[in-house]
Amino acid sequence: MLTRLRHLTTLENLPRECIERLLDRSITMRDACAHGTRKLNLLNGRTILNLFFEPSTRTRTSFELAARRLGADVINFNISFSSTAKGEELFDTLHTLEAMHMDAIIVRHKVSGTPDELVKHAMSGVSVINAGDGDRAHPTQGLLDALTIRQHKPDFSRLIVVICGDVKHSRVARSDVHAFSTLGAKEIRLCGPAALMPEASELPACTFYDDFDKAIEGADVAITLRLQKERMASIDLPDEAAYFRAYGLDTRRLAKAAHGCLVMHPGPINRGVEIAPDVADGPQSRILEQVGNGVFVRMAVLAEMLAR
Ligand code: NCD
Repeated sequence: MLTRLRHLTTLENLPRECIERLLDRSITMRDACAHGTRKLNLLNGRTILNLFFEPSTRTRTSFELAARRLGADVINFNISFSSTAKGEELFDTLHTLEAMHMDAIIVRHKVSGTPDELVKHAMSGVSVINAGDGDRAHPTQGLLDALTIRQHKPDFSRLIVVICGDVKHSRVARSDVHAFSTLGAKEIRLCGPAALMPEASELPACTFYDDFDKAIEGADVAITLRLQKERMASIDLPDEAAYFRAYGLDTRRLAKAAHGCLVMHPGPINRGVEIAPDVADGPQSRILEQVGNGVFVRMAVLAEMLAR
């Protein structure tokens, strides 16, 4: 019997059995709540706090829906962008919230490592879930991406995945790489202009490309990423039309991928910048399925941590 998770701040070094258990449990959740039409009572009496220091639409809503579908009470504590970068203020917030007896805190913060700092400073039995910290990790997105792929292509040992775009600033890319490599993916290709690529030593499980036409050849999954301008120190980018020509996913490029290649994107999409509208809305797109799976994955994570 594996010990259950107390916190979820990253997928790095999470054992394969644990990732698989969470993915299996996501499917159990989906079926038990009949795709969201039936409420479960696994977390009755629990209180969950959404603590988002960065703007978010889908992730915050998805966590809220997941918690409500499990019968928990949810508090949304929205803090505007710039108000809290100081550790002291943050821990004061944490201790205030702990004094109100929250069971879990879901945190998004622009500073990488913030969720782990909360884990270190938490005094009570509160669980911490990372909903995205800086460019470092977005573990529930990694899980929902793995689930979406697994539903169509269950054998990861045969899988070639390409992740293209602003990989350097992407916490999604990092959590995807951690999930897919732990699940045994055959090849993970990272592609983008040199200025938007991480150091190769940071992600040794991957192969690096600057030519998207080559990187997408034979790929079973193509994940495109937004230019995360808010995380760039200085914005030194080609104009959007030039970027799209070099790194945009259009039907011509998609034709070079393996037959039935899944098209994915964590959102928000910039149509005509990293992905063509007809590809985003096309038959190979799994983008809305990712959003739907996000709720089931978050139900699984919350239930794993908090169900009595
Ligand atoms: C991502 C994020 O916030 O890291 N969005 C999300 O959670 N679905 C990706 C992005 O902002 O581009």
